[in-house]
Amino acid sequence: MSRPLRVLLGISGGIAAYKSAELVRLLRKGGHEVRCALTRSAVSFVTPLTLEVLSGQRVYQEEYLAATGSGEEEHITAAAWGEVLCVAPATTHVLARLALGLGDDFLTTTALAFAGPLVVAPAMHSEMWRKEATQQHVETLRRRGVWFAGPVEGPLASGEVGMGRMAEPEEIARVIAAAAGGGPLAGRTVLVTAGPTHEPVDPVRFLGNRSSGRMGFALAAEAARRGARTILVAGPVELAAPPGVIRIDVTTAREMERAVHEHAAEADLIVMAAAVADFRPRQAAERKIKKEQGLPAIELAENPDILAGLRAVAPRAVLVGFAAETHDLERNARTKLERKGADFLVANDVSRSDIAFGSGDNEVTVYRREGEPVFLSRRPKSELAASLFDLFAARLFR
Ligand code: PMT
Repeated sequence: MSRPLRVLLGISGGIAAYKSAELVRLLRKGGHEVRCALTRSAVSFVTPLTLEVLSGQRVYQEEYLAATGSGEEEHITAAAWGEVLCVAPATTHVLARLALGLGDDFLTTTALAFAGPLVVAPAMHSEMWRKEATQQHVETLRRRGVWFAGPVEGPLASGEVGMGRMAEPEEIARVIAAAAGGGPLAGRTVLVTAGPTHEPVDPVRFLGNRSSGRMGFALAAEAARRGARTILVAGPVELAAPPGVIRIDVTTAREMERAVHEHAAEADLIVMAAAVADFRPRQAAERKIKKEQGLPAIELAENPDILAGLRAVAPRAVLVGFAAETHDLERNARTKLERKGADFLVANDVSRSDIAFGSGDNEVTVYRREGEPVFLSRRPKSELAASLFDLFAARLFR
């Protein structure tokens, strides 16, 4: 895995707590030191002795700290010791307390005193996960850059199958390693756009395109894996945010432009993988357009070109555009590279059904302001994202 880390593992009270023992074992096998902190209810699900034996360290638990009076400053000492704080399982209650900044036990006061990366592995029934209150807390935590491992779909404690199952210990260990950073892009900020934009025609219809967001999400995942602080501005898509990514959801091109401009100045690298609609209906109808009204004439207005306007907002950032082309790939890509002031233009052929829009794979030619074009043959978007970041990183560190 990664270099040896000091991991503080918070365990809250849910049935998935039994998997935390396996997580401790895995982390220790990977050469990491682990100290566990149990909430009051967690001791009903996993015994302190199990964790003590597996971790080889004394376990922080409420009753013990209260009885010995040693809890006074222990949360400060523990917070200073850990390099990563991971809460697995994280119940809906603990997520709420972390989001609200409550400090009413050892784990939450430690989280408040802790300055490093926080990883949470939520585990709960799917109804609880979907609840608006839970989702708002999740959103707050994501915005703060908290790393999420899962949850995933699968069998739940209730016997039902749904979203809310805790990620497997291997996945949590992987996210802990990524969160600990030390990656080549640590200290850098990467802004990625993904997905389509939807431009409303009336309350039920929109102008849009077939972008699934997969290319942009793969790029954001790669940036986060390399340790960058990663901001993902996503159009309307059905994808879960990659671990550790700060996600901002938008619908229209103008909303996307606002979100991108808000964060562009912080970014060292901006990758515009979104398929932004060039046009929008000048005026969206307030009520559904009815067939009986006859064929509607929809007047279009031009949307802002976000990429073309970026150099003025982020003069020092490395700018990457994508070009979705059905013909004259090279000529169109070179023109866009110039006209939009980008450093890289990644061209893909969107007339093919085996790559680009919606597909798991892509094949691109990367045109550069400096240097010859680079052809990257068809491969999964995650692998392509890694190859693209090798090119972008070389430019960033020049
Ligand atoms: O999402 P997937 O299903 O995974 O598909 C991936 C993809 C095909 C959408 C992706 O690889 C891709 O090509 N994205 C760019 C699509 C696009 O809008 O291309 P374009 O040639 O129209 O635009 C060129 C560049 O200008 C793009 O970086 C685009 O984000 C940007 N642009 C375009 C219009 C506009 N109004 N503002 C912009 O910033």
